[in-house]
This record gives sequence, C-alpha cells and structure tokens, in this order.
Amino acid sequence: MKDKTVIVTGGAKGIGRAIALAFAKEGANIVLNYRSTSPDSVKSEIEDMGVKCLTYKADISKFDEAASLVDAALKEFGTVDVLVNNAGITKDTLIMRMSEEDFDKVVETNLKGCFNMIRHCTKPMMKQRKGAIINMSSVIGIAGNVGQLNYAASKAGILGMTYSAAKELASRNITCNAIAPGMIATDMTDVLSDKMKEQIMSAIPLKRFGKPEEIAETAVFLAKSPYITGQVIRVDGGMVIG
Ligand SMILES: NC(=O)c1ccc[n+]([C@@H]2O[C@H](COP(=O)([O-])OP(=O)(O)OC[C@H]3O[C@@H](n4cnc5c(N)ncnc54)[C@H](O)[C@@H]3O)[C@@H](O)[C@H]2O)c1
Repeated sequence: MKDKTVIVTGGAKGIGRAIALAFAKEGANIVLNYRSTSPDSVKSEIEDMGVKCLTYKADISKFDEAASLVDAALKEFGTVDVLVNNAGITKDTLIMRMSEEDFDKVVETNLKGCFNMIRHCTKPMMKQRKGAIINMSSVIGIAGNVGQLNYAASKAGILGMTYSAAKELASRNITCNAIAPGMIATDMTDVLSDKMKEQIMSAIPLKRFGKPEEIAETAVFLAKSPYITGQVIRVDGGMVIG
C-alpha cells in the first residue's frame, strides 16, 4: 500500500475513520471525504504516521460533488488506487410510517452515492489498468430487517452493483468487492435502544458487537488481494451463516 492513494468516503468517524487509519498504517496516502463531522483529528492522526492526508468536503449522493472529490484526489496525488465506499446513513422506521423522503434519502446516499463514486473513479483506474473498489454493504442487505426496508434495499443494491462492476472492470485489472458488517459499535448503532441491542446480541454467535478496526482489517485485506473480485465478505460474528 506504500504511496498508493486511497479514497475513503465518510471517513471522519466510525468505520470510515478506522479504515482510513488502517490504510495510513500501511503507508498509503489518504483522501478523507467528510460531509458534516470535522475530519481534523483523523487528519492529524493520519499525518502522524508519516503519510499525506487530503480532507475533502463533499456530499457523495450528489453526482457533481462526487466528481469534484475524485478530481481533487487526482490533482493532489495523481492516481486513485483504492476506493472505499463507506459513507452511509439509516432512517429506520416501520413500512407504514416510512415517508418517501426516508426512502429516497437512504437510497440516494447509500446506493447512488456508491454509484457516483464508482462512476468517477472508473476512468482513472481504467487508465492505470489497476484498482480496487470496496463497497460497504451490510448483513441487513442480505437478510433484511424489521424497520429497515430502505436501508436493506440500498445495501442489497450495493451487492448487485458490486457483482456488475466486478464483471465489467475485471478486464482492466480492477477488483470490486463488498463487506457486509454485522453489528459494529459506532454512532450508527449507539442510537439503538438497550432492548434492541440485547435482541441483536442474542443473534450473534460470537456474543459481542464488532469493532470498526475489524472491518478496517478486512478492507485492507481486500485491497491487497488482486485475485479476489465480485465477493461479499461478512464480518458479523456469525450473525448470518450459510
Ligand atoms: N455500524 C454498523 O453496525 C454497520 C453495520 C453494517 C454496515 N454499516 C455501514 O458501514 C458504513 C459506516 O457506518 P458507521 O457505523 O461508521 O456510521 P457513522 O454514522 O458513524 O459514519 C458514517 C459516516 O458517513 C458520513 N456520510 C453520511 N452521508 C454522507 C454523504 N452523503 N456524503 C459524505 N459522507 C456521508 C457521515 O457523515 C459519517 O461520517 C455505512 O455505510 C454503514 O451503513 C455499519
């Protein structure tokens, strides 16, 4: 990973932060995308490891903002070697109460955002005939969940996108894989009620929530595995087996 350029979307906290730090530890320069959370503390942690970090504010659900993020990365570092589509949101509620906006926002961010970034990174990756794309799906996109129809649809869509990009881009030596995390301790899951957390815990064979660093290790592994493409790796303590 030394001197490679890695774009991490939504990298200012949670899983994205851990992924950015893990790639920096491997010697990669990081393009840390953020939307609202300040990226300053992550930037200095990254730079303390002796690599470069460009922070860039962009809403990746917007086609043009995603384009300017990729342009900024190319201007600063000249290449994009790894794209980690991590940015994501939830707007959980039961189907009967789910508004059109709840549905659209989640799909626009999680699914269209992923497309926007793949679309803009494909040209430079094809030109350099090398690249790795890692998309953050979820076990919810595989198994579904009560109150998460919008989120499940977006994360299942990411899987279809991953399989298609893997097939289409393979001839240019670009891999595309997905990670399906289970329950990882971040702000996204912190908002769940204790009752809900207990219920989820009872469905995890390893009997604990995952750590963001455990997802980051998988992302680095995939970026370093040129003969793995079109796969989904579940990192979920055994929540979904078989
Ligand atoms: N935490 C979990 O248990 C879990 C499980 C499965 C999948 N995931 C997925 O992992 C990814 C990271 O989740 P997390 O738990 O770290 O969540 P988080 O809420 O802590 O972080 C998400 C980050 O994405 C950013 N973001 C959201 N919308 C954006 C946009 N339009 N443009 C740019 N940035 C945007 C947020 O600002 C935030 O920094 C998400 O895609 C999430 O769906 C998380």
